[in-house]
Amino acid sequence: MFGLTIASQKGGVGKTTVALNLSYAMARRGWRTLLVDTDPAGAIGLSLTKKLSQAPGLADHLYQHTPIAGLIVETKLKGLGILPTGKIPADESERFTNGLADGAVLKAIQTAAQGRYDVVVYDTPSGFVGATLGAMRASRYVVSPVQAEPIAARGVMRIFEVIGALRAKGHPVELLGILLTMLHTKTQSSLAVAEDLWKTLPGNLLFEATVPRDPAFLEASAAGVPVGLLRRRPPPIAMVFDQLAAELEARLAPDAKDVANEPIALVD
Ligand SMILES: Nc1ncnc2c1ncn2[C@@H]1O[C@H](COP(=O)(O)OP(=O)(O)OP(=O)(O)O)[C@@H](O)[C@H]1O
Ligand SMILES: [Mg+2]
Repeated sequence: MFGLTIASQKGGVGKTTVALNLSYAMARRGWRTLLVDTDPAGAIGLSLTKKLSQAPGLADHLYQHTPIAGLIVETKLKGLGILPTGKIPADESERFTNGLADGAVLKAIQTAAQGRYDVVVYDTPSGFVGATLGAMRASRYVVSPVQAEPIAARGVMRIFEVIGALRAKGHPVELLGILLTMLHTKTQSSLAVAEDLWKTLPGNLLFEATVPRDPAFLEASAAGVPVGLLRRRPPPIAMVFDQLAAELEARLAPDAKDVANEPIALVD
């Protein structure tokens, strides 16, 4: 069991889209995945159903100590559960994210989910404050989406400073990779950002999978589904998250992987 935080300095770069679609892809690959929404705006609930956005969730655990097990919403995909944010009054967002900042409550979710889930994915509000820092403190890994546009890319180094600072204080969190999102494959400036990051980021930190800008994401959020469920035959873009999940798996430390690695016979 390990925690995986999706976090970025900048807002609107596709964190929630990545958290949802990656969780779906991981669950399809056999990881029992619990997606936890730590954004007081309830982003995951808003991307799925109205029912989910009004369901009790993390806030009820934080304030009323409602046990986590009773707050997890099972999805129709076996092995994918969602812990929604719960209802938070508009003027309580700060109190909510500050309540999660030390990571203790978010870490305790992993203990409560032990045995039922293999990975807990945290979607976070933008910026490295409150719930986002809490999720990173509770996680072994971070994936940071960066929008393929010049201004967004300028802030990319901040994630290294934040992770460095957390590690210096004894949190064993690691940056698993940076994911380019909303790449305009036909726009020179967007491609230039991709190329620049490719050249400047250390090692193989940039995932080979990139998320192109694609209207299927808007369609999927309007329909309240991950892109893989948009149609009976999923659009090509859904494959990006299968690729990302596979790449991510390859980067996990051996103790995080519990799947056997032998070939599977097609016929006996
Ligand atoms: N690759 C993409 N192509 C087109 N639209 C996208 C893509 N990724 C996300 N979007 C859309 O862009 C908007 C912002 O995405 P999303 O909510 O995932 O970003 P976020 O980083 O979670 O934002 P916030 O910082 O507010 O939490 C949403 O309407 C989403 O549907
Ligand atoms: Mg979001």
